Formats: sequence, structure tokens, C-alpha cells
Amino acid sequence: MPVKRPAKARPTRGARALARDLAIDLGTANTLVYARGQGIVLNEPSVIALNSQTGDVLAMGHDAWQMIGRTPSYIVAVRPLRQGAITDFDTTQRMIRLLLQRVGVSRFNRPRVVICVPSAITAVERRAVTEAARRAGAADAQLIEQPMAAAIGAGLPIHEPMGNMVVDVGGGTSETALISLGGVVALQAVRVGSFDVDAAIQIYIRREYGIAIGEQTAEEIKIAIGSAFPTTDEFRAEVRGRELMSGLPKTIILTPEEVRKAIEEPVSTIIDSVIACLGEAPPELAQDLILQGIHLVGGGGMLKGLDIRLSKETEIPVHLVRQPLEAVVLGAGRCIESYDALKAMFMDART
Ligand SMILES: Nc1ncnc2c1ncn2[C@@H]1O[C@H](COP(=O)(O)OP(=O)(O)OP(=O)(O)O)[C@@H](O)[C@H]1O
Ligand SMILES: [Mg+2]
Repeated sequence: MPVKRPAKARPTRGARALARDLAIDLGTANTLVYARGQGIVLNEPSVIALNSQTGDVLAMGHDAWQMIGRTPSYIVAVRPLRQGAITDFDTTQRMIRLLLQRVGVSRFNRPRVVICVPSAITAVERRAVTEAARRAGAADAQLIEQPMAAAIGAGLPIHEPMGNMVVDVGGGTSETALISLGGVVALQAVRVGSFDVDAAIQIYIRREYGIAIGEQTAEEIKIAIGSAFPTTDEFRAEVRGRELMSGLPKTIILTPEEVRKAIEEPVSTIIDSVIACLGEAPPELAQDLILQGIHLVGGGGMLKGLDIRLSKETEIPVHLVRQPLEAVVLGAGRCIESYDALKAMFMDART
């Protein structure tokens, strides 16, 4: 009886067919990746574990945190982005490569990627990011301005001849953009963000109580009782730290008023930059904002009372968007879902 041969495995054809286009929001605090047809496939802190002797990037995100403290001391945790900017090209390139590997990109499967960058990025930085993505395995790399992506993600009518204002308060930067007819009409960016709020809390506790607290404790205080304007449900918080003089553990009680005072400087810097952007707005578009309101995005935008404070100081309604931490990557994701229709939103990397 003739033996039927098993059918030969068909060679994989057209590796491009497998590649899923990706949108990446490489933030100072968090990195998110959106894959076409799938949605958000990665959402991790922008931290890498680095071998400080060789410079090798060993892990990123949650895996990097896991490594620290369980591995030799020359393996250190590094945030590769400072104040929203790429400070170290080599490390960023390695991080993007690791990121692409994590979401299944290989030599045979090279996707097009869209990377969200600060509007205030320089031409040199722009080239550095696209080059880093291409070297890390992307078939093509395009850039989109974060506030533009956030506006698309928040579902604003950016193509209308109407003023849309987005304020993105991230970890390291705060950007305010006025968008009309698909372009940025006015822009203000400051390299001050929610990390600076944490730092201000640390400095205050050190100065007033002589106690040292870690970055993570400062962030916990900010999220638990930090605010930019008094709210009705305020409570005190117990904070544990190390007394600088004695080196001993000590506990103090912090009030919400104290925290407001401690963080006033970074908060007012952020608000002033929004006001400066409003000052640049053409009068007709500024008029639109009274009806449309200002849209607040980014994790730092979730600081309690920031929306109210901003609204009081600008006399314009302020809306915190539904998904402040995801808005940017969701907007860039919309662009890769409708690549040809929305490719006009990409920045020109050469200019
Ligand atoms: N509920 C909250 N209240 C206040 N701050 C918050 C809250 N949740 C998150 N944050 C802060 O938001 C920041 C992260 O925001 P986000 O992920 O938008 O930054 P990023 O995009 O990584 O930074 P950037 O855009 O500046 O590069 C962190 O500093 C975090 O402490
Ligand atoms: Mg951001």
C-alpha cells in the first residue's frame, strides 16, 4: 500500500505579512506599545537593568525592577530618558531593540513603527530616535508629536478649523499644544513634570523634618494626598523615613496643605506654561476654547485638583480625559490603524 507522504511544511512567505505595525510611546516614566489590530500590548515603567561594567541592557520594565537587588551590584536600574529627552543614544537604541523583541519583532518580521515624541524635540534628537528604531529592527520609523497623538487619542476634532487645546503632564515634561486643522498652532513645553512634584516632596520633608524618603515614597505621598487645589475628601498621611541626624527610622504625619505648599513651585511652572500657550493663541481659536475647554492628559494630569486649579487660573473649563496614561499611545495607534489616512499627522524627520 503506497504510503502517503506528509505534506511538506510550506515555507513562510513574505515576512512582512507577519509584521504588525506598532505605535510606541517612549515616556520618561512609562513605555507603552500598541500593535495594529490588537491594541495596547505592553505597558511598563521606562526602566532598564544595565550591566554598568559592559553597558549591556539586560532587561526592561517590570523585569528590570525584579533584577535589581537579586543580582550582583554592578547591575543597576537606569531610566534611559530624562525630562522626556534621549540623553544616551546607545542605551535608547538597545531599549527599543529589547522592546521590539518583547512584542515579537525579529529579523524576519520587521514592522513599521510610529514613535511618539515631545513637540519640542530638536532635529538632532528626531534623527536619533528614527535611526535608533531602524537599527533596532523597524522597517520604517515615523514620529508623531505627543500632544497631537493625545488629541487624536482623546477623540478631539483636530481636523476642524477650531481650537483644540491639549495639556500633557508627563513624568519629565509638560506640553501644551493648541491644534487646529490638523496642525499645531501654538506650543509651550517645559521640562518639568510629575517627577519634579515627587522631588519637591522629598526636598520639603528633608528640609522641614530632617528626614530622607525615597523616590517611590514621595510618589506614593503625591498620589495619596497630593493636590493642586483643596478638595473635600482630604486626609493626613503617615510617612516613614530615615532621620538624617541619627540615621534612625522615624514616622511623621503630613497634611494635604503642607504637600500643596511643598509642590507649589513645579505646579505653578506647569500652569504658567499653559497660560503662556494661551497667550500665543490667535483670538478666534482662543474663543473656541471657552466652549471646547482644555483637555488634560498624562499621568501628572491626574494630580488631584490640577484640573480645578487650571480652570480657575485660565477661566476656561478643563476636562481630564478618560484614559490619561494611555491617550498618547492610543492616538498613535489610531494612526497605524488608518496609516494612509492619518500619515499626514507624522512629523518630518529631516527638518
Ligand atoms: N493618580 C495620580 N496622581 C498624580 N500623579 C500620578 C497619578 N498616577 C500617575 N501619576 C504620575 O504620572 C507620571 C507618569 O505619567 P506619564 O506616564 O504620562 O509620563 P510619561 O509619558 O512617561 O512622561 P513624559 O511624557 O514626560 O516623557 C508619574 O510621575 C506618576 O507618578
Ligand atoms: Mg508622555
